[in-house]
Amino acid sequence: MPKRVILIAAVTVDGYIARHKLEVTNWSKDLHIFKEQTMGYPVIMGSNTHKTLINELKGREVIVTHRNDNPKSILKNISSKKCFIAGGGKTYSRFYPFLTDLYITPHPYVFGSGISLFSDKTNESQLIFKKLVEVSKKSGILQYQYKIQKP
Ligand SMILES: NC(=O)c1ccc[n+]([C@@H]2O[C@H](COP(=O)([O-])OP(=O)(O)OC[C@H]3O[C@@H](n4cnc5c(N)ncnc54)[C@H](OP(=O)(O)O)[C@@H]3O)[C@@H](O)[C@H]2O)c1
Repeated sequence: MPKRVILIAAVTVDGYIARHKLEVTNWSKDLHIFKEQTMGYPVIMGSNTHKTLINELKGREVIVTHRNDNPKSILKNISSKKCFIAGGGKTYSRFYPFLTDLYITPHPYVFGSGISLFSDKTNESQLIFKKLVEVSKKSGILQYQYKIQKP
């Protein structure tokens, strides 16, 4: 089981990650940061997100999850010290109980509707701010890194 299970997402200011379940995420400006941060680590994603990928994630083991998979068993089979949960909303929700960190990059959009960061109902969590990473100075885009406070 990895010591750190990190959710990584680009979100709109109204909390959406996509307009619909098979949207190609071509509006985010943080792909270079995503590549740098995930390189060499397992990246877990849901089947819808996998269908939207244009390029393979080179240098990373991609684990595509389906409804009958058990998130805890998937994590138990990972031997590296950290792994990333790369969406979508359904998959973020399913791995929520095991998350240790959130890397969230708000983008200057309001979608009004679509796929929320967590598509399913989740319990409340307290977050501890850790770090800000500059994504695009010109567009004022920053990645916020938080730890999830465990009770
Ligand atoms: N902005 C970002 O950072 C970001 C990141 C990642 C993804 N996205 C976007 O998010 C969207 C996809 O999100 P998503 O939530 O639709 O999909 P997803 O999490 O990528 O995949 C859906 C997952 O839920 C499972 N599932 C489907 N129906 C279920 C049910 N009734 N009960 C339990 N599990 C079920 C699927 O399993 P089966 O395979 O068995 O159906 C699959 O594992 C895409 O548009 C993508 O571009 C955005």
